Parts: sequence; C-alpha cells; structure tokens
Amino acid sequence: MRVALALALIAAPVFAGFVVAGPVGDRAPVAYTVRDGVEIPEPLAPAGDPERGAAVAADPERGGCLTCHAGPDGEGGSDAPDLAGIGARASEGRLRLAVVHYGALDPDVTEHAFYEVRDLGEAVSEDAVGTTALTAQEVEDLVAWLASLRD
Ligand code: HEC
Repeated sequence: MRVALALALIAAPVFAGFVVAGPVGDRAPVAYTVRDGVEIPEPLAPAGDPERGAAVAADPERGGCLTCHAGPDGEGGSDAPDLAGIGARASEGRLRLAVVHYGALDPDVTEHAFYEVRDLGEAVSEDAVGTTALTAQEVEDLVAWLASLRD
C-alpha cells in the first residue's frame, strides 16, 4: 500500500509535466517531409479552402499575415514582400514550407514558422508550449489561398 502511494506521488508530476509539454488535442503537429530543402510536397491536411485561408491571413489572432504583407488588393502591411501574384511565382510545396518554417529556406529568417512546435525559449505562454501557432488545416487553407493569388 505504502509503495503504491509512493509510486503514485512520483508518477503524478511526471505525467502532469508530459501533459503540459506534449502536443495537445488538435494542435498536435503532423509529421511532414521537406524535399531538397525547398518544399513540402505533401499537404498536411485534406483539401485547403482559399476563402478560409484569406480569413486566417486577415485574422491577427491566427496567421496575422496581413500585418506585414500586402494582400491581393493592396490591403495590409508593407514590411514584407507583396503577396499579389505569389501563386504564379512559387509552387504549392514552396508556399507550404514558407508558412511552416521559413528558416528552412533562409536561416536568417527565424520567426516565420507557423507550424513549428514552440518551446519556452520562444517566449510563448506555457499553454502554447508543444503546440504550433496554426493547425495543419489552417496551413493548408493558407496554401490554397496563396496559390490562388495569380495576378
Ligand atoms: C512579422 C511579419 C510577417 C508576418 C506576420 C508574416 N510574414 Fe510572411 N514574410 C515576412 C518577411 C519579412 C518575408 C521575407 C523573408 C525573406 O526572404 O527575407 C516573408 C516571406 C513570405 C513568403 C515568401 C514571399 C516570396 O516572395 O517568396 C510567403 C509566401 C509568406 N511570407 C507568407 C506569409 C503568410 C501566409 C503569413 C501568415 C501565416 C505570413 N507570411 C506572415 C514577414 C511576415
């Protein structure tokens, strides 16, 4: 009896630590493969929807893409490359990698990683540790939106 209680006391904090640090619910990241350092050819989730992607891009609580980038109608920020016509300039696989982890394309760009698992070193709240900023579906919706920007 005493042994069982001692074990429970030891196990509890370890288990709690795992829950906090591990991937949580639908924020659990799916595995992906970067090909030749330039693209992620396979989608992370079923069919992206460009309209939902546009909403993610405009939402500062999610992608917040238009905080920095100008969108197709010139709306948004001017600190980053204009996204108009990006779908004609870049493959879907490259767009996916740019959203997931831009640092793989250019190591000097360190904070453009919307599908990297976050840790405390990145100054995120404890709840966000072990999760990604966007869900796999949000990434695919953004890729579909970016790919649709052809003019
Ligand atoms: C904090 C500002 C900022 C935010 C927010 C941001 N970006 Fe970027 N993005 C940049 C910068 C700066 C670059 C250029 C990086 C470089 O090559 O030096 C870039 C590059 C890109 C590129 C490549 C552009 C090209 O011409 O090759 C794409 C695609 C892109 N971002 C999409 C997104 C999407 C989608 C989001 C929202 C999930 C987003 N960005 C959010 C700053 C931002």
